[in-house]
Amino acid sequence: MRFLYPCDPFDKKKPGEAYEEDFLAAQAAGLSCSLYSAEDFEQGEFRPNPSFSEGDEIIYRGWMLTPDNYQKLQNAIEAKGARALTTSAQYQHCHYLPEWYSLCEDFTPKTVFLSKDADFSSSLLTLGWSAYFVKDYVKSLTTSRGSIAENVAEVFEIVALIEKFRGQIEGGVCVREYENLLPDTEERYFVFNHIAYAGDGVVPKIVRIIASRIRSPFFSVDIVHNSDGQPRLIELGDGQVSDKKKWPADRFSEIFIG
Ligand SMILES: Nc1ncnc2c1ncn2[C@@H]1O[C@H](COP(=O)(O)OP(=O)(O)O)[C@@H](O)[C@H]1O
Ligand SMILES: [Mg+2]
Repeated sequence: MRFLYPCDPFDKKKPGEAYEEDFLAAQAAGLSCSLYSAEDFEQGEFRPNPSFSEGDEIIYRGWMLTPDNYQKLQNAIEAKGARALTTSAQYQHCHYLPEWYSLCEDFTPKTVFLSKDADFSSSLLTLGWSAYFVKDYVKSLTTSRGSIAENVAEVFEIVALIEKFRGQIEGGVCVREYENLLPDTEERYFVFNHIAYAGDGVVPKIVRIIASRIRSPFFSVDIVHNSDGQPRLIELGDGQVSDKKKWPADRFSEIFIG
Protein backbone atom coordinates (compact mmCIF):
# COMPACT_ATOMS: atom_id res chain seq x y z
CA MET A 1 0.00 0.00 0.00
CA ARG A 2 1.36 3.42 -0.96
CA PHE A 3 -0.27 6.82 -0.63
CA LEU A 4 -0.03 9.37 -3.41
CA TYR A 5 -0.39 13.06 -2.55
CA PRO A 6 -0.14 16.22 -4.69
CA CYS A 7 3.07 18.15 -4.05
CA ASP A 8 3.47 21.87 -3.48
CA PRO A 9 3.43 23.48 -6.95
CA PHE A 10 6.46 25.60 -6.02
CA ASP A 11 8.49 22.93 -4.22
CA LYS A 12 7.99 19.42 -5.55
CA LYS A 13 9.74 17.86 -2.55
CA LYS A 14 7.02 19.12 -0.21
CA PRO A 15 3.36 18.00 0.05
CA GLY A 16 0.80 20.58 -1.11
CA GLU A 17 -0.35 22.78 1.74
CA ALA A 18 -3.83 21.22 1.89
CA TYR A 19 -2.33 17.74 2.31
CA GLU A 20 0.68 18.44 4.49
CA GLU A 21 -0.94 17.40 7.78
CA ASP A 22 -2.24 14.10 6.32
CA PHE A 23 1.08 13.37 4.64
CA LEU A 24 3.08 13.89 7.83
CA ALA A 25 0.62 11.81 9.90
CA ALA A 26 0.72 8.99 7.33
CA GLN A 27 4.53 8.99 7.34
CA ALA A 28 4.59 9.05 11.15
CA ALA A 29 2.27 6.01 11.14
CA GLY A 30 4.79 4.17 8.96
CA LEU A 31 2.71 4.30 5.74
CA SER A 32 4.60 4.63 2.45
CA CYS A 33 3.91 7.97 0.75
CA SER A 34 4.82 9.47 -2.61
CA LEU A 35 4.29 12.95 -4.02
CA TYR A 36 3.43 13.92 -7.58
CA SER A 37 2.85 17.19 -9.38
CA ALA A 38 -0.81 17.55 -10.34
CA GLU A 39 0.21 20.44 -12.63
CA ASP A 40 2.78 18.32 -14.52
CA PHE A 41 0.29 15.46 -14.69
CA GLU A 42 -2.16 17.74 -16.49
CA GLN A 43 0.61 18.30 -19.06
CA GLY A 44 1.03 14.53 -19.47
CA GLU A 45 3.99 13.97 -17.13
CA PHE A 46 3.73 11.60 -14.17
CA ARG A 47 6.79 11.25 -11.94
CA PRO A 48 5.82 10.07 -8.48
CA ASN A 49 8.54 10.56 -5.89
CA PRO A 50 9.62 8.17 -4.42
CA SER A 51 8.79 6.12 -7.50
CA PHE A 52 6.45 3.13 -7.23
CA SER A 53 7.62 -0.44 -6.82
CA GLU A 54 6.25 -3.18 -9.07
CA GLY A 55 2.84 -4.25 -7.76
CA ASP A 56 2.39 -1.35 -5.28
CA GLU A 57 -1.26 -0.71 -4.44
CA ILE A 58 -1.79 3.04 -4.72
CA ILE A 59 -4.24 5.06 -2.65
CA TYR A 60 -4.58 8.58 -3.99
CA ARG A 61 -5.29 11.41 -1.51
CA GLY A 62 -5.87 14.61 -3.41
CA TRP A 63 -8.20 16.92 -5.25
CA MET A 64 -11.52 15.74 -6.61
CA LEU A 65 -11.13 14.51 -10.18
CA THR A 66 -13.69 13.96 -12.89
CA PRO A 67 -14.13 10.24 -13.60
CA ASP A 68 -12.26 10.77 -16.91
CA ASN A 69 -9.31 12.34 -15.13
CA TYR A 70 -9.38 9.62 -12.48
CA GLN A 71 -9.19 7.07 -15.30
CA LYS A 72 -6.11 8.91 -16.62
CA LEU A 73 -4.53 8.72 -13.17
CA GLN A 74 -5.35 5.02 -12.94
CA ASN A 75 -3.73 4.46 -16.37
CA ALA A 76 -0.62 6.42 -15.32
CA ILE A 77 -0.33 4.37 -12.10
CA GLU A 78 -0.64 1.14 -14.10
CA ALA A 79 1.96 2.34 -16.61
CA LYS A 80 4.42 2.45 -13.67
CA GLY A 81 3.73 -1.21 -12.87
CA ALA A 82 1.56 -0.41 -9.83
CA ARG A 83 -2.22 -0.56 -9.44
CA ALA A 84 -4.86 1.80 -8.11
CA LEU A 85 -6.69 0.44 -5.04
CA THR A 86 -9.89 1.99 -6.44
CA THR A 87 -10.77 1.48 -10.11
CA SER A 88 -12.27 4.39 -12.05
CA ALA A 89 -15.63 2.57 -12.08
CA GLN A 90 -15.51 2.32 -8.28
CA TYR A 91 -14.43 5.95 -8.07
CA GLN A 92 -17.46 7.08 -10.06
CA HIS A 93 -19.75 4.78 -8.06
CA CYS A 94 -19.25 6.80 -4.85
CA HIS A 95 -18.41 10.18 -6.41
CA TYR A 96 -21.63 10.49 -8.47
CA LEU A 97 -24.90 10.51 -6.54
CA PRO A 98 -27.04 8.64 -9.13
CA GLU A 99 -24.59 5.72 -9.06
CA TRP A 100 -25.10 4.78 -5.40
CA TYR A 101 -28.63 6.15 -4.95
CA SER A 102 -30.59 3.01 -5.82
CA LEU A 103 -28.54 0.94 -3.35
CA CYS A 104 -29.32 3.31 -0.46
CA GLU A 105 -32.75 4.69 -1.39
CA ASP A 106 -34.26 3.67 1.94
CA PHE A 107 -31.79 5.88 3.85
CA THR A 108 -31.52 9.04 1.78
CA PRO A 109 -33.82 11.86 0.57
CA LYS A 110 -35.83 10.99 -2.55
CA THR A 111 -34.04 12.23 -5.66
CA VAL A 112 -34.73 12.74 -9.33
CA PHE A 113 -31.94 13.05 -11.90
CA LEU A 114 -32.29 15.50 -14.76
CA SER A 115 -30.22 16.75 -17.61
CA LYS A 116 -29.31 20.42 -17.10
CA ASP A 117 -30.91 21.56 -20.33
CA ALA A 118 -34.20 19.72 -19.85
CA ASP A 119 -37.36 21.70 -19.18
CA PHE A 120 -38.07 19.85 -15.97
CA SER A 121 -40.85 22.02 -14.51
CA SER A 122 -43.62 19.53 -15.27
CA SER A 123 -41.74 16.53 -13.84
CA LEU A 124 -40.94 18.44 -10.63
CA LEU A 125 -44.50 19.69 -10.09
CA THR A 126 -45.93 16.16 -10.26
CA LEU A 127 -43.66 15.10 -7.37
CA GLY A 128 -45.70 17.13 -4.89
CA TRP A 129 -42.64 18.02 -2.76
CA SER A 130 -42.87 21.06 -0.46
CA ALA A 131 -39.32 22.20 -1.32
CA TYR A 132 -36.22 20.96 -3.11
CA PHE A 133 -32.49 20.57 -2.49
CA VAL A 134 -30.51 21.02 -5.71
CA LYS A 135 -26.99 19.86 -6.61
CA ASP A 136 -25.09 18.40 -9.53
CA TYR A 137 -23.83 14.80 -9.37
CA VAL A 138 -21.07 15.91 -6.98
CA LYS A 139 -21.77 19.09 -4.99
CA SER A 140 -24.39 21.53 -3.81
CA LEU A 141 -24.28 25.32 -4.17
CA THR A 142 -22.04 26.43 -1.32
CA THR A 143 -22.39 30.20 -1.73
CA SER A 144 -24.72 32.05 0.64
CA ARG A 145 -27.75 31.45 -1.61
CA GLY A 146 -27.51 27.78 -0.68
CA SER A 147 -29.13 24.82 -2.41
CA ILE A 148 -32.68 24.93 -1.04
CA ALA A 149 -35.36 25.86 -3.60
CA GLU A 150 -38.89 26.77 -2.55
CA ASN A 151 -40.24 26.42 -6.09
CA VAL A 152 -39.29 25.35 -9.60
CA ALA A 153 -38.05 28.82 -10.59
CA GLU A 154 -35.56 28.65 -7.71
CA VAL A 155 -34.42 25.20 -8.91
CA PHE A 156 -33.47 26.79 -12.25
CA GLU A 157 -31.79 29.69 -10.43
CA ILE A 158 -29.62 27.31 -8.35
CA VAL A 159 -28.63 25.22 -11.40
CA ALA A 160 -27.55 28.43 -13.19
CA LEU A 161 -25.55 29.56 -10.13
CA ILE A 162 -23.76 26.20 -9.80
CA GLU A 163 -22.79 26.46 -13.45
CA LYS A 164 -21.65 30.07 -13.00
CA PHE A 165 -19.52 29.51 -9.89
CA ARG A 166 -18.06 26.11 -10.73
CA GLY A 167 -17.82 26.56 -14.49
CA GLN A 168 -19.96 23.50 -15.26
CA ILE A 169 -22.66 21.15 -14.06
CA GLU A 170 -20.81 17.93 -13.40
CA GLY A 171 -22.73 14.92 -14.72
CA GLY A 172 -26.24 16.32 -14.42
CA VAL A 173 -28.74 17.79 -11.97
CA CYS A 174 -29.99 16.05 -8.81
CA VAL A 175 -33.20 17.44 -7.34
CA ARG A 176 -33.77 16.01 -3.87
CA GLU A 177 -36.82 16.20 -1.66
CA TYR A 178 -36.30 18.79 1.07
CA GLU A 179 -36.12 17.20 4.53
CA ASN A 180 -36.00 18.85 7.90
CA LEU A 181 -32.38 18.07 8.74
CA LEU A 182 -30.19 19.31 11.57
CA PRO A 183 -26.95 20.33 9.76
CA ASP A 184 -24.95 20.52 13.01
CA THR A 185 -25.41 16.77 13.50
CA GLU A 186 -23.50 15.89 10.30
CA GLU A 187 -20.82 13.23 10.82
CA ARG A 188 -18.43 11.73 8.28
CA TYR A 189 -17.49 8.05 8.48
CA PHE A 190 -14.96 6.21 6.31
CA VAL A 191 -15.24 2.66 5.02
CA PHE A 192 -11.99 0.94 4.13
CA ASN A 193 -12.00 -2.64 2.84
CA HIS A 194 -15.65 -3.04 3.95
CA ILE A 195 -14.97 -1.99 7.56
CA ALA A 196 -16.59 1.26 8.75
CA TYR A 197 -14.70 3.67 10.98
CA ALA A 198 -15.76 6.68 13.06
CA GLY A 199 -13.44 9.63 13.77
CA ASP A 200 -14.71 9.65 17.30
CA GLY A 201 -17.17 7.34 19.06
CA VAL A 202 -19.10 4.44 17.60
CA VAL A 203 -20.13 3.59 14.05
CA PRO A 204 -23.95 3.70 13.79
CA LYS A 205 -25.88 0.77 12.38
CA ILE A 206 -26.93 2.70 9.23
CA VAL A 207 -23.25 3.13 8.30
CA ARG A 208 -22.52 -0.58 8.82
CA ILE A 209 -25.45 -1.47 6.55
CA ILE A 210 -24.24 0.98 3.87
CA ALA A 211 -20.71 -0.46 4.18
CA SER A 212 -22.11 -3.90 3.37
CA ARG A 213 -23.94 -2.66 0.24
CA ILE A 214 -21.33 -0.53 -1.53
CA ARG A 215 -18.65 -2.26 -3.58
CA SER A 216 -15.83 0.22 -3.30
CA PRO A 217 -12.64 -0.31 -1.28
CA PHE A 218 -12.55 3.19 0.22
CA PHE A 219 -15.38 5.68 0.59
CA SER A 220 -16.90 8.24 2.94
CA VAL A 221 -20.43 8.24 4.34
CA ASP A 222 -22.08 11.46 5.58
CA ILE A 223 -24.91 11.07 8.06
CA VAL A 224 -27.18 13.87 9.31
CA HIS A 225 -30.02 13.52 11.82
CA ASN A 226 -33.47 14.81 10.96
CA SER A 227 -35.73 16.69 13.33
CA ASP A 228 -37.31 13.34 14.38
CA GLY A 229 -33.87 12.13 15.48
CA GLN A 230 -33.56 9.65 12.59
CA PRO A 231 -30.16 9.28 10.89
CA ARG A 232 -30.25 10.08 7.14
CA LEU A 233 -27.62 9.40 4.52
CA ILE A 234 -26.72 12.67 2.83
CA GLU A 235 -23.94 11.58 0.56
CA LEU A 236 -21.24 9.10 -0.23
CA GLY A 237 -17.88 10.21 -1.53
CA ASP A 238 -14.83 8.45 -2.85
CA GLY A 239 -12.53 8.16 0.18
CA GLN A 240 -9.51 9.35 -1.77
CA VAL A 241 -10.98 12.80 -2.42
CA SER A 242 -13.11 13.23 0.73
CA ASP A 243 -11.93 15.81 3.22
CA LYS A 244 -11.29 14.23 6.59
CA LYS A 245 -13.46 16.95 8.26
CA LYS A 246 -13.30 16.63 12.06
CA TRP A 247 -11.05 13.56 11.98
CA PRO A 248 -7.67 14.03 13.68
CA ALA A 249 -4.94 13.22 11.11
CA ASP A 250 -3.41 10.44 13.23
CA ARG A 251 -6.82 8.78 13.69
CA PHE A 252 -7.37 8.94 9.93
CA SER A 253 -4.05 7.16 9.26
CA GLU A 254 -4.96 4.40 11.73
CA ILE A 255 -7.75 3.04 9.53
CA PHE A 256 -5.14 1.84 7.02
CA ILE A 257 -3.14 0.02 9.65
CA GLY A 258 -6.15 -1.99 10.87
N1 LIG B 1 -32.64 16.90 0.90
C1 LIG B 1 -32.18 17.82 1.76
N2 LIG B 1 -33.02 18.57 2.48
C2 LIG B 1 -32.54 19.50 3.34
N3 LIG B 1 -31.25 19.74 3.57
C3 LIG B 1 -30.36 19.01 2.88
C4 LIG B 1 -30.77 18.02 1.94
N4 LIG B 1 -29.65 17.46 1.41
C5 LIG B 1 -28.62 18.06 2.00
N5 LIG B 1 -29.01 18.99 2.88
C6 LIG B 1 -28.15 19.83 3.75
O1 LIG B 1 -27.13 20.42 3.00
C7 LIG B 1 -25.84 20.00 3.46
C8 LIG B 1 -24.94 19.74 2.27
O2 LIG B 1 -25.49 18.72 1.46
P1 LIG B 1 -24.58 17.76 0.61
O3 LIG B 1 -25.45 16.89 -0.21
O4 LIG B 1 -23.60 17.10 1.51
O5 LIG B 1 -23.83 18.79 -0.34
P2 LIG B 1 -22.27 18.91 -0.71
O6 LIG B 1 -22.04 17.83 -1.73
O7 LIG B 1 -22.12 20.26 -1.26
O8 LIG B 1 -21.47 18.65 0.54
C9 LIG B 1 -26.11 18.74 4.31
O9 LIG B 1 -25.21 18.65 5.36
C10 LIG B 1 -27.51 18.96 4.82
O10 LIG B 1 -27.48 19.65 6.03
MG1 LIG C 1 -21.57 17.20 1.83
